[in-house]
Amino acid sequence: MREPVTRLRISPPPRPEPGYDVIVEPGALARLPALLAGAAPAHRYAVVSDANVAPLWAEPVLRGLRDGGLSAELAVVPAGEGAKTRETWGELLDALLALGLGRDAALVAVGGGVVGDLAGFAAATFLRGVPVVQVPTSLLAMVDASVGGKTGIDAPAGKNLVGAFHQPRLVLADPTTLTTLPARELRSGLAEVVKHGAIADAAYLDDVAGQGDALLHCERDVLARVVARSVEIKASFVAADPFEQGARAALNAGHTVGHAIEALSGYGLTHGEAVAIGLVVESGAGERAGVTAPGTAARLEAALARLGLPTRVPAGMDAPAILAAARSDKKTRAARLRYALLAWPGSLARPDDGGWTFALPDDLLAATLAQYAERP
Ligand SMILES: NC(=O)c1ccc[n+]([C@@H]2O[C@H](COP(=O)([O-])OP(=O)(O)OC[C@H]3O[C@@H](n4cnc5c(N)ncnc54)[C@H](O)[C@@H]3O)[C@@H](O)[C@H]2O)c1
Ligand SMILES: [Zn+2]
Repeated sequence: MREPVTRLRISPPPRPEPGYDVIVEPGALARLPALLAGAAPAHRYAVVSDANVAPLWAEPVLRGLRDGGLSAELAVVPAGEGAKTRETWGELLDALLALGLGRDAALVAVGGGVVGDLAGFAAATFLRGVPVVQVPTSLLAMVDASVGGKTGIDAPAGKNLVGAFHQPRLVLADPTTLTTLPARELRSGLAEVVKHGAIADAAYLDDVAGQGDALLHCERDVLARVVARSVEIKASFVAADPFEQGARAALNAGHTVGHAIEALSGYGLTHGEAVAIGLVVESGAGERAGVTAPGTAARLEAALARLGLPTRVPAGMDAPAILAAARSDKKTRAARLRYALLAWPGSLARPDDGGWTFALPDDLLAATLAQYAERP
């Protein structure tokens, strides 16, 4: 008799990830019903939004889908990071089930990054996965959260610790929606835009700083150009590293310090405000370490200041606390903190070992944090 088989190898056929379009166009929301038919055909659509965005943008989207002859329902979650929980995710799945949606349904996320992450994760897990279309309505969601396929929710132990990669079928960014975005949220999104210029395109960095007034006044065409260029830059790093194992680390420039400052502020600072400070401090640290060209931090600081963003470490936050907060980030468990650094504005530095991030000593960071402390 044959020996009993105790180990079998199952090789599922490879499933290539389909590509998707990102459409950045003032007024494009009106074309959503027609675009859905091509990018995410489904028998029923669930439009997912939050309590702020639903009356402004999701309800018109819903009417548009129904007027276009599509079967569509609305599911509204509470607004804000506090809603990115297992509870809300579970309630959202229950609501989709109560609506009787099946595997022939698709979700349409209309909102900021919270809605995008939550609806994306719901789509990744509902009936083992249904398509999602991202319709970002905050600048941060347009230039960052909606592109790249990362979805998820927060856990008591930290932000974004539960999630899945689930690529959207389409991203539709209509800069018209930014006209209702609170000014502080708009500025926060601009910090990520500055980051994109800083890591990939110096001319773009200068362009963004020079267009500060037009951007802050929500001029749609200027915003559309900026969103499109930022998406292009983000997409280039994502395409090189879809599952975040290498090149995508570049997108964390400013974020090691930024995340720590954001958490230490008790989230009194927005993510973008904290990242703005982080970009300046990390560039200053890179200069001190001899990795980053002198003057880089000053150039970033000038650009960020023109966009109304903070650039200095808030008084009362000392270096040991910031470094401890950076270390407690659950996704960076390494003994030495690592930083994505610039070689000069518009260009990333790469360490000799071929990696993407640099380990810097804490005392160098401490000295830099003191240098960039807000003067009382
Ligand atoms: N998946 C990713 O790759 C990725 C990348 C970056 C950030 N994120 C996540 O994105 C989230 C932050 O996104 P955010 O800054 O958009 O936050 P958010 O979704 O909470 O939106 C910010 C605020 O603006 C409101 N809002 C959004 N669009 C509006 C509009 N057009 N008019 C009026 N109000 C509007 C929202 O209701 C909310 O109160 C975080 O949870 C973060 O973890 C994810
Ligand atoms: Zn960020």
